[in-house]
Amino acid sequence: MVNNPTIQSSLRLRAVVAGTGSSVPAKVMTNEDFMKIVDTSDEWIVTRTGIRERHIAGPQDTTATLAAQAARNALERAGMKPEEIELIIVATVTPEMVFPSTACFVQAMLGASNAWAFDLNAACSGFVYSLSIAQQFLSSGRYRTALVIGAETLSRITNYKDRSSCILFGDGAGAVVLKAVSSGPEGIMYSTSFSDGSSWEALKCQAYGSRHPVSIPLENPDMVYMDINGREVYHTAVRRIVELVNECLEKCDLQVEDIAMFIPHQMNARIIESVGKRLRFADEKIFINIDKYGNTSAASIPIALDECCRTGKVKSGDIVLLVAFGGGLTWGANVIQM
Ligand SMILES: CC(C)(COP(=O)(O)OP(=O)(O)OC[C@H]1O[C@@H](n2cnc3c(N)ncnc32)[C@H](O)[C@@H]1OP(=O)(O)O)[C@@H](O)C(=O)NCCC(=O)NCCS
Repeated sequence: MVNNPTIQSSLRLRAVVAGTGSSVPAKVMTNEDFMKIVDTSDEWIVTRTGIRERHIAGPQDTTATLAAQAARNALERAGMKPEEIELIIVATVTPEMVFPSTACFVQAMLGASNAWAFDLNAACSGFVYSLSIAQQFLSSGRYRTALVIGAETLSRITNYKDRSSCILFGDGAGAVVLKAVSSGPEGIMYSTSFSDGSSWEALKCQAYGSRHPVSIPLENPDMVYMDINGREVYHTAVRRIVELVNECLEKCDLQVEDIAMFIPHQMNARIIESVGKRLRFADEKIFINIDKYGNTSAASIPIALDECCRTGKVKSGDIVLLVAFGGGLTWGANVIQM
């Protein structure tokens, strides 16, 4: 299946998906709910984004509690105990606190006492970046197991007075347990990652940090919220995602038809459909669940992958293509045989 010799030779050990899981807060916010707080309509939101509702964290939910629950579900499906995990990566832009890392909280909540744990911030590309890092550790033989989580409480940094951005975002977490094995499915076959820091202003949340510390009054109080240049992001995302898919197919010597499910970051249904059409993916092989969750940043791909696995849309042996684009700017992809 993988004819490229450079890929085959690097896979002495395979990083395979042993289980997936997800967790979203109970509270749901519909488009009708937004019509009560900003000047918008269900028709505008559905037509422009494909979103109908999103889950919003309650007072007891935090990024770490959602991440830990997603991880427990993934461990259960993998038939593994938390003590068996050797590496935990949590991708997030809404960490539990400045420090310690969210991953350390998750480690403690799970009782994963044999793992080392750290966070990774690559905005919406955080999960695909994290999978590529875990792949390196597992395929080199350094570790045997890893828990890779994407988790966000974006509602905590959403400006509910800005109608062009607030309708987009939701909260949740998704997780994948990876195992190093020497036979069976290929697991993570290929990963690729990019960044362009010169375009940082397109997607940002500026305070509080070193540049805008809490001790100095902000020139604009809205700097504590996410701020996006939707139009700019839209066009760049389409171009980069098409490039990523073409690179993955070429490097893995695959055709579009070989991909059982194309699972892109859920940023906008129109972006996903326009990319899918350009690349000639059959409609049933393009996974979209943004209607139920909105954009959950680093959590969106693992939530989608878990839904695909639980509903039988993706089966053992299938090849899936995960593609992300987000703040940084960052973008990246993974090709995985499940
Ligand atoms: C945000 C996004 C949905 C906006 O869609 P769009 O088709 O580009 O819409 P525009 O920004 O051009 O706005 C069109 C009009 O709708 C208005 N509008 C914006 N938000 C609205 C809302 N929630 N309800 C009603 N009207 C709205 C705008 O004010 C504008 O009005 P105008 O023409 O009178 O100025 C789209 O650009 C997008 O999804 N971008 C990428 C999202 C992103 O960056 N996600 C985070 C990174 S992963």
